[in-house]
Amino acid sequence: MDNRPIGVFDSGLGGLTAVRELRRILPGEDIVFFGDTGRVPYGSRSPHIIKEYATQCMDFLEKQDVKMILVACGTVSSVLGEEMKKRTVPCMGVLESTVKAAVSATKNKNIGLIATAATVASGSYEKLTAKLLPEAKFTGKACPLFVPLVENGYFAANCEVTRLVAKDYLSAFEGKDIDTLILGCTHYPLLYNLIDSVTEHKLNLIDSGKEAAL
Ligand code: DGL
Repeated sequence: MDNRPIGVFDSGLGGLTAVRELRRILPGEDIVFFGDTGRVPYGSRSPHIIKEYATQCMDFLEKQDVKMILVACGTVSSVLGEEMKKRTVPCMGVLESTVKAAVSATKNKNIGLIATAATVASGSYEKLTAKLLPEAKFTGKACPLFVPLVENGYFAANCEVTRLVAKDYLSAFEGKDIDTLILGCTHYPLLYNLIDSVTEHKLNLIDSGKEAAL
């Protein structure tokens, strides 16, 4: 029995969507959460800077003597990829479980992704989807305004500002016939109800924060 805490980090409060789920499924575990709110957002920065920030976050968590690190950030998970396995403490990201959930939810093999600009540019979700479901069609859309909106508390389902932004971003999927949409940034589950309403409750929404914890 290892009583050390589990370390979790994100660029900001989005990672708390993973912590919420971890607390539900592992109520006996101690969790140290670090949200890098001084430097959020990560998703519009270069891979080089994202790696530098992520390394500092992981060094900080290792100093807290955590037994493992959950990288509760789609952007860091995408940019670091396999590199996170080189740490001394076991490290896992959000991609694998999230893509697995999307692949098992889709009926028509037509999957959409909304995420940060760095995540979409990395092609990480798309490549993993192609590996697990080679015949899948995939459409990704960067939504850079979502993280600042969430960080500033604009996430209620009836928030008019965020609804307008969401309608604009989600219009990228018109005519694509997707049945499943990956919320590939852990901030986006806080917009779950709003996105579900804008997409008229027609899509399987895959919550990367929740899936990361499972
Ligand atoms: N929660 C982070 C993610 O999952 C947000 C990244 C950002 O700060 O832009 O991608």
